[in-house]
Amino acid sequence: MYINFWYPIAKSDEVITYEPHRTKVLGQQLIAFRDTQGAAHVLSDVCIHRGGALGKGWVRDDTIVCPYHGWRFGGDGLCKHIPTLDDDKVPARAKVDSYPVQEKYGIVFAFLGDLPEEERPPLHNIEEFGTDGWRANKIVVFEVKTFYERSIENGLDPSHNEFVHPAQGSPTMNRDFLKNPLEMQDGPWGSEFLVTFDNKVTDTRALSDPSQAVPLVTAGSGYVGPNQMITWIRFTEDNMFHQYFFEAPIDENNTRIFFVNMRTFMLDPENDNRLVNINLTVAKEDIDILEELDPVCTPANPSDEVLVPSDGAVISYRKFLKQWRDKGWRIDIDAMCASRRNKTYAIPCPSRRTSGNWVLDPVPLLPGGD
Ligand code: FES
Ligand SMILES: [Fe+2]
Repeated sequence: MYINFWYPIAKSDEVITYEPHRTKVLGQQLIAFRDTQGAAHVLSDVCIHRGGALGKGWVRDDTIVCPYHGWRFGGDGLCKHIPTLDDDKVPARAKVDSYPVQEKYGIVFAFLGDLPEEERPPLHNIEEFGTDGWRANKIVVFEVKTFYERSIENGLDPSHNEFVHPAQGSPTMNRDFLKNPLEMQDGPWGSEFLVTFDNKVTDTRALSDPSQAVPLVTAGSGYVGPNQMITWIRFTEDNMFHQYFFEAPIDENNTRIFFVNMRTFMLDPENDNRLVNINLTVAKEDIDILEELDPVCTPANPSDEVLVPSDGAVISYRKFLKQWRDKGWRIDIDAMCASRRNKTYAIPCPSRRTSGNWVLDPVPLLPGGD
């Protein structure tokens, strides 16, 4: 798990003005609430007075009220009011981390890290979102009992489909093609590939629509950062799915996935539910495999696996992960878990770069490279 990337926190309609939305990402409890101007805020959940859970409190006058002794924190993370003190006596240390927010596609995203704005990796832009000729399904959120890297690697793996996905017609890839390394196209924050599937047996089962049957399907996948995965499926020039998976590692064993499905055909809204159900059926086929992978995380030692050319995108993903680890952004999960009983951490927010005097230590990070 890495700090300094954008993570999905909640669906927009879960972030409201009178009650906090409590969630866990990167092993840390977070809260989100909306102020009366409509802006969403994402804060560390731990009250720095004596450890109250802000997410169990309530929102009043654009502040989150701790349920234990009523301290109030603004969207900027600063304590605005302590019931037992005059307001001008609120200690400077009384503040919690507050994270930059972007709200897009019906999702509230937070930048969980301390980089200044100009250095931040991007939140992936869905160019076709809201444009003519494309329709987005309602956001689908589902949780998987797996480490998120396993989930992303699964999405980057074209050779599992014929074995795992009868609901899609078990799409098979040309064997000669699979014997060669995937041709990855690298970008600054990730990589992608396109391949062709023989669709002879795919026929109509995936879409329950005989008119969509075509002999070849072009498809591909890519990733941006450690937790954003994209799949393109092109049946014809006009009939396409673009699928976006924004993944939030809840902790070292669980992942929450925010799924945006875009399509250029079957645009009638009455198709939405049917397509969501098909997508969830396919996702369930993946989940049944992912939840049984052993070990839960990818092995620390590469010789504990045997990788072949068709694993090229997985290898590419791990190379990028290594770069981000070398930057010193990878959370030291073992250190974080070892001290859980009497120590809590916060993901450092950008304000830590410009002001001191923070109560909670930042999450422990693995040392970076040279
Ligand atoms: S623990 Fe939050 S106000 Fe005391
Ligand atoms: Fe799959």
